[in-house]
Amino acid sequence: MFRRHKPANDAGRMPDRPEDMVVIVDQAVSPYLVLFHDPSGYRAEQVRALRNRLVAMNPDGEPKTLVVTSAVRDEGKTVSALNLAMAMAELERQQVVLVDADMRRPGCERHLNLNPEPGLADVLLGRTTVDKVLRPAGYRQLMLLGPGTRVANPAEVLSSSRLDELLHRLKERFQYVIVDTPPVLPSTDAGVLAARVDGTLLVVRLERSLKKQTREALRTLQDMGANVLGSFVTELRGHDPDSDRRLAYEPRSDEEA
Ligand SMILES: Nc1ncnc2c1ncn2[C@@H]1O[C@H](COP(=O)(O)OP(=O)(O)O)[C@@H](O)[C@H]1O
Ligand SMILES: [Mg+2]
Repeated sequence: MFRRHKPANDAGRMPDRPEDMVVIVDQAVSPYLVLFHDPSGYRAEQVRALRNRLVAMNPDGEPKTLVVTSAVRDEGKTVSALNLAMAMAELERQQVVLVDADMRRPGCERHLNLNPEPGLADVLLGRTTVDKVLRPAGYRQLMLLGPGTRVANPAEVLSSSRLDELLHRLKERFQYVIVDTPPVLPSTDAGVLAARVDGTLLVVRLERSLKKQTREALRTLQDMGANVLGSFVTELRGHDPDSDRRLAYEPRSDEEA
């Protein structure tokens, strides 16, 4: 993140001299969080395009719950959920919360470089209330509900009737509730969660996800009653920065003009 430390006499203006401005790049936060590290880049714009489509699908602006999932592990679910939640949080007056419901291999706190704290599991087990464990994610007004204390039986904990109550409470406070989940094929958690929210996004990692598995995951989600809104294709341009640059559309610099 680029944080500007303004001198005390600067009333919201850009400092006149460059040496007045200190820029800190926080490398501890996962480099894949493009909204954080490269907010004007092509990838961040892609995430905003998805966000805009989702917002357009909700013209009345009603609070919505969204699950982000994929067929198997390491397809970019957590990174996509975080980027989407950050893009949502950029919108004015939008209160957004990201819920890490992957109690098996949680990743939100790791990608955000936050320490594990009590969270979702503790709320679902009735050990605490959601207001006590919601915390800032470190980006704009985005809030995080972490996975909470490790449990041996995530499927059982997630099937608690407290889950519906929790989602209901979150919708009273937030416009968008983004839920990061485990993959669809290895466990029933994602299907259970997807059936309880307003919409589900399926992450597909180009050149890595297997079509057969993605298709099977889609079928499983639909069978469980999920409302699959679409897919979130990651790694579209691989690691080729030149192709990213060609597709980028940034304001022309003075030298180029
Ligand atoms: N857009 C991306 N491009 C390249 N690698 C990525 C991207 N997103 C994630 N990764 C890599 O994949 C790993 C798993 O991503 P993650 O979002 O945690 O997956 P999942 O939640 O599906 O298991 C990350 O730690 C990172 O190394
Ligand atoms: Mg994950």
